[in-house]
Amino acid sequence: MWCGLSVPQIVGAGLTIGLATALSPRTKINDAYDFVVVGGGQAGLVLGARLSDSNHTVLVLESGGDGDEYRTRIDTPADSYFDSLWTTPLNWDFYTAKQPNAEDREIEWPRGKVLGGSSAINGLYMTRPGKDEINAWQAMLGDMDGADNWSWDSFYAALKKSETFTPPSDAIAEQGGITWNSSNHGTEGPIHASYPDYTFDQVGDWSQSLQSIGVDISSNMYGGDVWGAEVSTSCINPSNWTRSYSRTGYLDPLPDRTNYDVLANAHVTRLIFDNSTSTNLTASSVEYTSDNGTTKSTVRVKKEVILASGSVGSPAVLLYSGVGPKDVLSAAGVDLVSELPGVGQHLQDHISATVKWSTSVDTAGSIWYENGADKNNTNYLSYIDDAIAYVNSTALYGSKVGEYEKKFLAQMDEYTPNTTTDDGVIAGYKAIYNTTASTIFTSPMGQIELLFMNSDANGDVGISAALQHPFSHGRIYINSSDPMDYPVIDPNYFANPSDIEILLEGIKMARKIGETKPISNNFTEEITPGSSVQTDEDWTQWLREQATTEFHPSSSCAMLPQDQGGVVDANLRVYGLANVRVADASIVPIALSSHLMASTYGVAEQASTIILEYYDPSSATDPAFSSSNVTAVSSSTATPKSDKKSSAAKAIRGLSNSWIPFVLGSMHLGVIFNLLL
Ligand SMILES: Cc1cc2nc3c(=O)[nH]c(=O)nc-3n(C[C@H](O)[C@H](O)[C@H](O)COP(=O)(O)OP(=O)(O)OC[C@H]3O[C@@H](n4cnc5c(N)ncnc54)[C@H](O)[C@@H]3O)c2cc1C
Ligand SMILES: *[C@@H]1O[C@H](CO)[C@@H](O)[C@H](O)[C@H]1NC(C)=O
Ligand SMILES: *[C@@H]1O[C@H](CO)[C@@H](O)[C@H](O)[C@H]1NC(C)=O
Ligand SMILES: *[C@@H]1O[C@H](CO)[C@@H](O)[C@H](O)[C@H]1NC(C)=O
Ligand SMILES: *[C@@H]1O[C@H](CO)[C@@H](O)[C@H](O)[C@H]1NC(C)=O
Ligand SMILES: *[C@@H]1O[C@H](CO)[C@@H](O)[C@H](O)[C@H]1NC(C)=O
Ligand SMILES: *[C@@H]1O[C@H](CO)[C@@H](O)[C@H](O)[C@H]1NC(C)=O
Ligand SMILES: *[C@@H]1O[C@H](CO)[C@@H](O)[C@H](O)[C@H]1NC(C)=O
Ligand SMILES: *[C@@H]1O[C@H](CO)[C@@H](O)[C@H](O)[C@H]1NC(C)=O
Ligand SMILES: *[C@@H]1O[C@H](CO)[C@@H](O)[C@H](O)[C@H]1NC(C)=O
Ligand SMILES: *[C@@H]1O[C@H](CO)[C@@H](O)[C@H](O)[C@H]1NC(C)=O
Ligand SMILES: *[C@@H]1O[C@H](CO)[C@@H](O)[C@H](O)[C@H]1NC(C)=O
Ligand SMILES: *[C@@H]1O[C@H](CO)[C@@H](O)[C@H](O)[C@H]1NC(C)=O
Repeated sequence: MWCGLSVPQIVGAGLTIGLATALSPRTKINDAYDFVVVGGGQAGLVLGARLSDSNHTVLVLESGGDGDEYRTRIDTPADSYFDSLWTTPLNWDFYTAKQPNAEDREIEWPRGKVLGGSSAINGLYMTRPGKDEINAWQAMLGDMDGADNWSWDSFYAALKKSETFTPPSDAIAEQGGITWNSSNHGTEGPIHASYPDYTFDQVGDWSQSLQSIGVDISSNMYGGDVWGAEVSTSCINPSNWTRSYSRTGYLDPLPDRTNYDVLANAHVTRLIFDNSTSTNLTASSVEYTSDNGTTKSTVRVKKEVILASGSVGSPAVLLYSGVGPKDVLSAAGVDLVSELPGVGQHLQDHISATVKWSTSVDTAGSIWYENGADKNNTNYLSYIDDAIAYVNSTALYGSKVGEYEKKFLAQMDEYTPNTTTDDGVIAGYKAIYNTTASTIFTSPMGQIELLFMNSDANGDVGISAALQHPFSHGRIYINSSDPMDYPVIDPNYFANPSDIEILLEGIKMARKIGETKPISNNFTEEITPGSSVQTDEDWTQWLREQATTEFHPSSSCAMLPQDQGGVVDANLRVYGLANVRVADASIVPIALSSHLMASTYGVAEQASTIILEYYDPSSATDPAFSSSNVTAVSSSTATPKSDKKSSAAKAIRGLSNSWIPFVLGSMHLGVIFNLLL
């Protein structure tokens, strides 16, 4: 079951403390909105903020709560490791289906379930995709209307629009060996891109060791050249060393907007269509539940529904609404409303594994677990790992890149997923595969990402290798007609043997770095997998047993031509539906050489511009929200305005009796400073 929380809450956007009296908390949502955004996660709150900066009315519906009771753990970067939100209701806590090529394991797949979504629970890496990848995405769209918006130049501008960059202090820059180019970054966006205020000598040694084994220090990582070693930016607000995520960036600082409501604890069960035109259906309302499906409410849609429920949630909402592959819907017992074979298909995910060593020096983990002197200091608590490298095919295969490209292409037909017989979906698989082999593998883009990990519970250090461009495609589907049931997640890891072969080269490189000076100076002994793993066969078997998600699923509602199993067109409209778009990590058609957060901000910013331009051709949105605004968010229970929905209304009113209104802002500051100072 989707574990719904009990009390629906309206978060009236932007209750500036001094103005709160005249404005919210609002206790009612309206019967109808121009735009209904499904999912108040990372992308959903961007859409809510941008679309409501207009005269349109906007409602965001989020399954999870507001997260306020976990706010300190969300805000504190180091808590990502040491007091993780994975164990809380803020994590959907999905698991994959059994993975036959990974020892039949069911692999844990966390996803955020809270305002801010996965950006509230993720690892804060703020990396960007590359120019060649984004241009390859655009090329896959051909001459489709709107394809220009997915060129590197257009996407790069959207990435910059979402961020404000602050360089590290001189001391941190020196110790961590950090270099940057401010001109690649944004200066006025809602999300802070910066660096922790604490680092380790080993972080500073990273790039030098990489260089010694032939992976150069990168010179333009944030300008589209995603290869080489560096220290990445993280989504940290340097004014108080807190996590900067879509709630703090795009919701909390908003001025009060009476046209914008955010309803938490509201799980969308389906879209309801006006079926007067069967080939181009209009979503007339959105159905949701605040009590685990016992009762349902609906809200009318005046203009559009925008799905932003993520790579798992967006295909699931479409499928439960009857939009998807015929075979999947009929097996699940859901009435077909609009046949769209690509929904949930083309799923791609990064898969990774970590070599670990014991070390003779302090690590982030040893300071935490052994109560080191800095443990309670704000600057230490801002530390999260950020030494990174993207290794391209030249660094992996030298002069044999062309040979490998041919070999991979030759395996395309043999490993075509057999879970669909749809010609379009298969054509899409081949188009993505061909782009991955012929355009991306042969480009200078990273194929493997390497990460230095300093936060192990035993005080150990690790080096991870993660496959960035999998040839194996999986899918998200449903096997029930009850929208409270979790969808099935099948990433199909290692179905194509090329994936494990490439990751094998990456993991051997991880070991090699750990044996290369200067970073190796204070590594004492390899403890995982250790000396028993030596041959390629040993490593391959170990990867099947150990490799796990790097948390970057994409492409389950891929932007592709309709005859290639696409779900959305270049304007993000779902094929066959008149007024439904998808705008989140699920629309990216090819896996990118990057953690997905920055790209998801880029997608959501582009989507907002496209939608506003469609309705208000002359509109220009604020480039930024003032970061100096001290604001608060207030919560309230929802009571539907109409008493006609009697059972739902009663259930919600019953709960509302026990609800105590509060203004978060001042309380919140108090809590944080007590813990951090
Ligand atoms: C543990 C973890 C670590 C990560 N680390 C990093 C990192 O360090 N750097 C990085 O760049 N990326 C990282 N990522 C990936 C990145 O966070 C995600 O790719 C990105 O946030 C996805 O954004 P989204 O808007 O597509 O989905 P989400 O942010 O997941 O938002 C989807 C929202 O929709 C809601 N929802 C789902 N179904 C429904 C429904 N039916 N009705 C209403 N609401 C619904 C969900 O509760 C959620 O809030 C990590 C992810 C995880 C999970
Ligand atoms: C909203 O409408 C008013 C009155 O029609 C108009 O003056 C204003 O410019 C509009 N604002 C936006 C952001 O479109
Ligand atoms: C998207 O493309 C259209 C047509 O080329 C253009 O007018 C518009 O400005 C683009 N939007 C963005 C956000 O780049
Ligand atoms: C590959 O990456 C290295 C850095 O590791 C870089 O020097 C090189 O230019 C990149 N491109 C190609 C085609 O090798
Ligand atoms: C439209 O939907 C309604 C309610 O689901 C149903 O009763 C009706 O038969 C449908 N009409 C058509 C033309 O499909
Ligand atoms: C919904 O289910 C969760 C988990 O089973 C439970 O904790 C919660 O109380 C339920 N909420 C309601 C309103 O029934
Ligand atoms: C940090 O705070 C905790 C809880 O207050 C305390 O137990 C611990 O001793 C403190 N550690 C240091 C190093 O100050
Ligand atoms: C699909 O392929 C898998 C793995 O190769 C195989 O086990 C399975 O039997 C195939 N299924 C069908 C329906 O052919
Ligand atoms: C594969 O991609 C290459 C490079 O973009 C292109 O030249 C070729 O036509 C593509 N082949 C197929 C079968 O799509
Ligand atoms: C760590 O390595 C350096 C050399 O880079 C050495 O000078 C130092 O003594 C080592 N520290 C410990 C605790 O082993
Ligand atoms: C579907 O309806 C929308 C809105 O009425 C319209 O803009 C669009 O062109 C239609 N699409 C098709 C394929 O008929
Ligand atoms: C707060 O933000 C609003 C909207 O951006 C702006 O008009 C106002 O001047 C800001 N207030 C302060 C104190 O910065
Ligand atoms: C951190 O500072 C920002 C202003 O830059 C503020 O909006 C936010 O509330 C602060 N967070 C905490 C936990 O104090």
